[in-house]
Amino acid sequence: MFKDKKLTTASGLPVPSDQASLTTGAKEGYTLLADAHLTEKLAHFNRERIPERVVHAKGAGAHGVFEVTNDLSAYCCADFLSTIGKQTEVFVRFSTVGGERGSADSERDPRGFAVRFYTEEGNYDLVGNNTPVFFIRDAIKFPDFIHTQKRNPQTNLKDADMFWDFLSLTPESMHQVTILFSDRGTPLDFRHMNGYGSHTFMWYNSKKEYVWVKYHFKTDQKNKTMDAQMAEAMKAKDSDHATRDLFDAIERGDYPIWSVYVQIMTSKQAKDYPFDPFDVTKVWYQSDYPLIPLGKMTLNKNPENYFEETEQVAFAPSNLVRGIGWSPDKLLQGRLFAYHDAHLYRLGTNHQQIPINMSKHKAKTYQRDGSMSIGGNQGKEPNYWPNSIEGQPKPDASFSPPQIEVQAILARHERPSEDIDFIQPGELYRRVMNEQDKEHLINNIASHLINAKHKIQMRQCALFYKTDKDYGSRIAKALALDLDEVKRLSLLSQEERVNETS
Ligand code: HEM
Repeated sequence: MFKDKKLTTASGLPVPSDQASLTTGAKEGYTLLADAHLTEKLAHFNRERIPERVVHAKGAGAHGVFEVTNDLSAYCCADFLSTIGKQTEVFVRFSTVGGERGSADSERDPRGFAVRFYTEEGNYDLVGNNTPVFFIRDAIKFPDFIHTQKRNPQTNLKDADMFWDFLSLTPESMHQVTILFSDRGTPLDFRHMNGYGSHTFMWYNSKKEYVWVKYHFKTDQKNKTMDAQMAEAMKAKDSDHATRDLFDAIERGDYPIWSVYVQIMTSKQAKDYPFDPFDVTKVWYQSDYPLIPLGKMTLNKNPENYFEETEQVAFAPSNLVRGIGWSPDKLLQGRLFAYHDAHLYRLGTNHQQIPINMSKHKAKTYQRDGSMSIGGNQGKEPNYWPNSIEGQPKPDASFSPPQIEVQAILARHERPSEDIDFIQPGELYRRVMNEQDKEHLINNIASHLINAKHKIQMRQCALFYKTDKDYGSRIAKALALDLDEVKRLSLLSQEERVNETS
C-alpha cells in the first residue's frame, strides 16, 4: 500500500532510512551531526507545541452547515440570512473553560460554543457559551476571574479559597454561579447542550434601522445533563468522553442539529426594560421577548486533522458581517480586542492565512509580509491605500453599521452589585428549578465551598441568602454555618459585608 509513496524530509528529499541514525558502528557508535534527517526530525518534534488557549484550551470541533428557516431580513441585512433555505458552511468548536488541554470533558465548568459562519461577505464568528449569562460584566475583571479558576501560584493546585473569595467579592456572578453549580454545569456531552451568544448584539437592515438581539441554539438531541456522581464517574472512565461522543456520532452519520432562535428588542424597548439589556449577567425573559426561529445548524463532517483545524481555528467576536454589530455591553467591548490579540500570540501575525481561518471570499488587504506569510503575499499588487491604480480594493461605505448617538461621561464607572442582580438568580432557583435540581445545586455548592475558609463561606452564603432565603438557609445548614449570622450579613451592604468578613 505504501508502494508509490516516498518518505522525504520536510524539504522533499527522499529519506533512505527512518529507523537508523547515521552512526559509526553497527552496535555502539557516534552519531553524526551531518544526519540532517535526524536533526530535522528531533528539532521539529521540539517545536510541536504552540501555546494552548489561555482559556477554553480543551475542545472538540466539527464542520457543518447553517440553513435559514425563517426570513428575518426585515431586521438584518446579513447576506447569509437573506433567504429561507440559504445554506452557509460553519465550523464549530466546543470546549471547557478553565482546564488545560488534557483536562476532563466532564469538569464542572461552562462549555464554550463557538460558531464560525463562512459567509460570502466574510467570516462571522459567534463565540458563545452553553449559558445565557456570564460571571462578570466588565472586561477589566476577566484576567483576575480566570486566575481564580486556574491553579494557585504556589501549590499549582485548584484552590477553593481563590475561587470563592473572588466570587463572594463579585456578587453580580450569582446568576452564573447558580447555573454552574446546578447540573447544567455538567452537560452530558457537547451534542446534548444548548448554546447562547450570551451578549446582546445589534442587527440592522438595509435601511440602517437597528434592533438588539440575543441568540439561542437549542439542541435537537435534547438538553441532557449529568449529576455530580455521574460526572465524577465519567471523569474516571473516559476523560475525553464528549470529544469522543461528537466524533463518533458524526462518523456514523448521526449528525447533531441545533435549532437557532433569536430574541429581538427594539431600541425603545431597551430603554424601558427593567433589566439592563446590555448586562451579560442578565437574561431577557422569554415571556417578554419570545424566541423567534431563525435557522438550523447541522454538524456533518469531522476535521481531517485536529491540530490543523480545531487547534488552529481562531474565533474572534470582532469578526462581524454586514447586518450585525456589537452593542454597548462592556464585557463584549473588551472581547472585541482580546481574541485577535490572543491569536497574534498563539498563532502569529498571519493566522488568517491558515486554511481554517481563511474567508471563503478572498481577503484583500493592504497588509503585507510578517512571519509565515503564505499564499503569494498578494503578489505584485500595491501595498498602500489610497492609491489611484485601476482595479484595486476600495473601502465600501455601505458596509458601515448605523450611526449611534452617544452621550458620555468619561470615567472609570464602578458598578457595584445592586439588589437587581439577585432577582434573576432568585427566580431561577424558585421558579425554574424543581426539588431535585435544588437538592443537587445545594450539594454541589456545599461540597466545593466547604474547602474554602470559614469567613469566605459566610460571605458567599450571605449572597445565596440574599438571592433566596431557602437557597441560603439550605447551604448554611449543609455547611453547618450560623444561620442568624448569615441572615445578618445578607442585610449589610456589600462593602460592610466585606469589611466584616475580611
Ligand atoms: C476563548 C478572552 C469572555 C467564550 C477565549 C480566549 C481569550 C478569551 C483570550 C482564547 C482565544 C484563543 O486563543 O483563540 C475573553 C475575555 C472575556 C471573555 C477577555 C471577557 C472580557 C467570554 C464570554 C464568552 C466567551 C462572555 C461566552 C459568552 C469563549 C469561547 C472561547 C473563548 C467559546 C473558545 C473559542 C474557541 O473554541 O477557540 N476568550 N473571553 N468568552 N472564549 Fe472568551
